[in-house]
Amino acid sequence: MVSREAYELLTRVGSGTPMGELIRRFWVPACLSEELPEPDCDPIRLRLLGEDYVAFRDSDGRVGVMDEHCPHRGASLFLGRNEEGGLRCLYHGWKMDVHGNVLETPCEPAESRIRFHVKHAAYPVVEQGDVVWTYLGPPDKQPPFPNFWWTTVPPENRCVGKIDYACNYLQAIEGAIDSSHADVLHSGYELLGWGEGEIRQVEPGRTAARETRWEAEESAYGFRYAAVRGSRANPGTHKSVRVTEFAVPFHCLLSDVPHMFVPADDESTWFYDVRTQSKPVDRQETLTRRGERVGVDVGPNRRKTRTVANNWMQDRAAMRAKKEVWSYSGIAWGKPHQDMAVIESMGPVYDRTKEHLGIQDVGIVRMRQRMLSTVRRFIETREVAELDPSVPYDRIRGYVYELPADMPWQLAVYGELRDGY
Ligand code: FES
Ligand SMILES: [Fe+2]
Repeated sequence: MVSREAYELLTRVGSGTPMGELIRRFWVPACLSEELPEPDCDPIRLRLLGEDYVAFRDSDGRVGVMDEHCPHRGASLFLGRNEEGGLRCLYHGWKMDVHGNVLETPCEPAESRIRFHVKHAAYPVVEQGDVVWTYLGPPDKQPPFPNFWWTTVPPENRCVGKIDYACNYLQAIEGAIDSSHADVLHSGYELLGWGEGEIRQVEPGRTAARETRWEAEESAYGFRYAAVRGSRANPGTHKSVRVTEFAVPFHCLLSDVPHMFVPADDESTWFYDVRTQSKPVDRQETLTRRGERVGVDVGPNRRKTRTVANNWMQDRAAMRAKKEVWSYSGIAWGKPHQDMAVIESMGPVYDRTKEHLGIQDVGIVRMRQRMLSTVRRFIETREVAELDPSVPYDRIRGYVYELPADMPWQLAVYGELRDGY
């Protein structure tokens, strides 16, 4: 259980809050590259860490991320004209480039120097891995870009979906770290009364959740935890291990499937769902399976169509019929939507003093402990140890191993990361 005060510290992300300031020290995803599809396309609004920004792609293809409100009198730049190397405010025509330089002030007298004295708040941008990343922290604290492994694979081998979560980012992360739910929420075949044969047909390697042991350890950038099970291929001599890495503040690197949970504000979150493989990804098939198609599952602003207002379109008839692989939850196509339904059903920021954690919730406990110790250290020192340049962000990922029963899985992970991480 986590105290009300500690959970408050973990979940508040606005400007000036400790966690908000901590997260601003990291590079954060601002939007997908495809949300700004071409030079001089329509600007978009961004909601990040409780603040409003605008993003645009200029005539040269460069992306700008800046405060939404015009430095002149505060009109929204989202209404502005994006053309000829800058974003022009609709109201009096001030025009800003991607760096926040004021290029023109057409209402001012010709001799006016005001444009040289005003600079609009614009933020550093890196576009990598189909994602536009920005840095919102103090300029003198800007860390190197982390180059996560999935951002540098060939673009055709990758597909990144984006959906909003109607709850706090930590609650959304807990959904990804909560591993034992997979055998219930996403399948639940035993609870539907399916026979052994039927289950084997849809999931040949299935092991019951209670046969899994969870082990966790700290890392320099967060923590890692492993689901350890007896090996099916070599029972007795080997074990199968699935390692998930959590990197502060919101990266969950499940075995080869990275997730990011970026706080939009205290009560909503942007979920980036990354899929990669060693050959080209069928994007349409992937987005359909995950429930991330623009115009079907989410609107152009990436807000989803299945929400609390329509009970996430839960299909009670299918739940009774027990015929579909998703019949247990009644929430069809798209595991993320099954996750979102249960996690959003808690309300935007659940009161954690009311919960009762079991043995299998060890990952959630570790994640909260790590985030708490990180933010408390940040309050004391104003430094973020996880951003030490020696942290090998480009090598952190989840793994699936088949290991000799007596070999610590940690050794296999250290081998991948090298340098003692
Ligand atoms: S408010 Fe934007 S130009 Fe005046
Ligand atoms: Fe899930």
